Amino acid sequence: MFLPQEVIRSKREGEVLHSDAIREFILGVTDNTVSEGQVAAFAMATYFQGMSIEERVALTCAMRDSGDVLDWSGESLNGPILDKHSTGGVGDVVSLMLGPMIAACGGYVPMISGRGLGHTGGTLDKLDSIPGYTTQASEALFRTVVKEAGVAIVGQTGELAPADKRIYGIRDVTATVESIDMITASILAKKLAEGLDALVMDIKVGSGAFMPTYEKSVELAESIVQVANGAGVKTTALLTDMNQCLASSAGNAVEVREAVRYLTGEYRNERLHEITLAQASEVLVSGGLAESTEQAREKLIQALDSGKAAELFGKMVHGLGGPADFMENYDSYLPKASIIKPVYMEGEGFIATMNTREVGLSVVQMGGGRKVPTDKIDYAVGITDICRLGDRLTADTPIAMLHASDEDSWNTAATMLRNSLTLAESQPEVLPCVYRKIS
Ligand code: URA
Repeated sequence: MFLPQEVIRSKREGEVLHSDAIREFILGVTDNTVSEGQVAAFAMATYFQGMSIEERVALTCAMRDSGDVLDWSGESLNGPILDKHSTGGVGDVVSLMLGPMIAACGGYVPMISGRGLGHTGGTLDKLDSIPGYTTQASEALFRTVVKEAGVAIVGQTGELAPADKRIYGIRDVTATVESIDMITASILAKKLAEGLDALVMDIKVGSGAFMPTYEKSVELAESIVQVANGAGVKTTALLTDMNQCLASSAGNAVEVREAVRYLTGEYRNERLHEITLAQASEVLVSGGLAESTEQAREKLIQALDSGKAAELFGKMVHGLGGPADFMENYDSYLPKASIIKPVYMEGEGFIATMNTREVGLSVVQMGGGRKVPTDKIDYAVGITDICRLGDRLTADTPIAMLHASDEDSWNTAATMLRNSLTLAESQPEVLPCVYRKIS
């Protein structure tokens, strides 16, 4: 007989749970026969006692199976189903470019993304700045666009891992979010419900990262790689730098503009390019579309140079309701803020550190993100031309252009941005883009 309190007791005592017990518990979470108090107690017991890799795999699979799991076998797709997931950052617009680049190399990318959280931006909010683009697509439309453009980036189509939704809500108010075991299951349950063949995880490290230290980022990466592979999805993880804004811009419409300019070759921030290529190469190799990361990079550069990746992004945008000529006329479609002015900082020297979290919060402060979940987003506001670590600053060099809707929010964001930076007399060491690969 299944008794939730016995499962909680076992975990409280540090025992290893059988996969059947985990599955029954998650079934109870999903149909509400397990109470909120029991979920909270289970989460706290897991927080303190931890879970083995086998238990995490069982928890991930049970949570994945608590809702819809996409099956692509009936679509006769002639390539693998691939995706990437990032723990989130500032100016992390990689998904918008990586999706069509992978599609141009023969993969299919059914990317189910999320909204902004705290100081980090959300892919869905960025895409919502494109007039007509629907991030709330039906499953039928989602499938059609994946089939025709090779990539579709949308919000949840059906009920995706509802057990995670309930558990996460309870973890959030019971101080049990910071558990590598539960973070792993929570992230992977949603990603694996996309029916993937391979996945690359981007785990951020640094002042704008979700994980507080390098060591914790490594721990999460190792956990995710072992659990995802244990659940049958070929997965590697890259630890990448988030000690500065990744793209040259942060916000919604401004990041879409940067993604389009990247795809067409009009402008490419080198660090963003490096990290995009590194992640896309990983997933091309895992998905069997390239034999080595070197070959994958060549294919990806070709996908950019030939214009194929840009074409597929345009096809996705139009397929999901956006303008047919978006790639040609993106600048006239994307909203613009009423105040766009450069920000200067006192002093001279080299940019030594950036509190990237603070940069993200300055965008939220201007209305580019939500302070409470019901907030409406101002898609036009944000930051462009943001300086990078190591840049030499003189009195007449702006640190960024700030796009705001009124003077007050411009001034507050400008102060936050100035305070997020420190200067040094000598050039600081250049940080790598990719710290480590875990496979
Ligand atoms: N993101 C998730 O989706 N789940 C967690 O538990 C933490 C971050």
